[in-house]
Parts: sequence; structure tokens; C-alpha cells
Amino acid sequence: MTNGIRIAPSVLAVDLTRLAEQVAQALEGGADWVHVDVMDGRFVPNLTFGANMIAALRTLTDKPIDAHLMVVEPERYIEPFAAAGASVFTFHPEATVHVQRQLEAVKQHGMLAGLALNPGTPLTYAEEVVADLDLLLVMTVNPGFGAQNYLPASTEKIRRARSLLAAHRPQAFLEVDGGITRQTIAAAHQAGADTFVAGNAVFASADPAREVHELRRRCLVTV
Ligand code: DX5
Ligand code: ZN
Repeated sequence: MTNGIRIAPSVLAVDLTRLAEQVAQALEGGADWVHVDVMDGRFVPNLTFGANMIAALRTLTDKPIDAHLMVVEPERYIEPFAAAGASVFTFHPEATVHVQRQLEAVKQHGMLAGLALNPGTPLTYAEEVVADLDLLLVMTVNPGFGAQNYLPASTEKIRRARSLLAAHRPQAFLEVDGGITRQTIAAAHQAGADTFVAGNAVFASADPAREVHELRRRCLVTV
């Protein structure tokens, strides 16, 4: 079972001087969620946004805000992100000692709980907590930067992730993130992904609205 299709443009790729304008363009094109890449310079070699970005976006849209925390000790940010208006809170299992406890804490704060797996992280991390997942994020690049190439080995992992969710947690979203473009989205969709993060594909394009529409179309024509 897949739960429809969601396109989640990542504001990592926006021109920050035109944040409101570019987010509006993506939403006009049918963006379902707004993805926010939170990096702390420790879990990944880059530094980006915090709860203030979530709060700013919350003034721009009622759509779900999809926070992806590439930070150590993500538990420190559950409360402030919930207060700022985040809808989905996804973290990496290597970043915290008590993964299951944090998934519960995220839900207690009214957000959907997601677990993100790096390309080199086995799916078994998710298996152990599958009943607690609202979302499983299969990284299709090594996190830290936008505009990287989709790793071809990801497709098989997406397939295995879909089987895992189909057997144990069919209502959870299966998200992919990294190098999602017109060229790669169909393979990820066919393998079972239903939620697609796209940074540069959307915001480096001359027409973000059209690009969102086109990404969705590329999924639909392959069904
Ligand atoms: C990678 C981030 C991604 C990134 C995707 O560390 O988690 O969300 O913004 O960017 P693109 O779509 O440009 O690969
Ligand atoms: Zn991300």
C-alpha cells in the first residue's frame, strides 16, 4: 500500500532573500509538505536552520512542515520544534541513545515521528521500532548538502523498506530525500516511496511551481 504522493520541497535550496516568494511558488505548484533540513555541523558537516525557520514558515503556510534533523541529540529540539509549529519530526538513529523513547516523545508533542536512515545504515534500525514509526525516511544521498546525485543502490533499499512497512506499519509514510529529480523520481516511486523531498530540482529551477507539478506527474505516469 502506498499513501498517495507527497512532494516536499526542501527550503535548503531556496534563495533565502526570497524565502516567502519561492515557498509560495512551490505551494502554488501543489507542494504538499515543506521540508526543512536542520544541520548542526556535528552529525553532518554543515550548519543550517533551527526552530526560528519553522516559526517563519508557519506564518507562510498551513501545510505540514516536515523537519529533518541531522543533529546529535535531536531530543533537545522536540519541544521547541513542536512549539514553533513543526508537523513531522524526523531524526537519525545514530544521533541518539534512546531511539524508541524519542519517537514516543515526538508523538507526545503532537508531531508525526520519523526515522531517517543514511545510505550506509541498515534497515534493521527501523525494524526494531517499526511499530512506532509514522514515517521512514530512506536517504538517497549522504546527508549534509543539497544538489548531490541519487545513489542508485537506494532503489533496492526503498523496495525493502516498503516491504517492511507493508508487513508491519502500512499507514507510515515512506519518504526519500536526496537527488530527487525528474530523472530519478519514478524509480523511487516504483520501488514504493510515497513522499519525495526535492531541493534543487524545485528551487534551482526557473519555475518552481511547474517543477513540483512535473515531479508529481513523473510518478503518476509510471503507475
Ligand atoms: C540532504 C538533505 C536534503 C537536501 C536535498 O542532506 O537532507 O533534504 O536538501 O537536496 P536535493 O534535492 O538538492 O538533493
Ligand atoms: Zn532532508
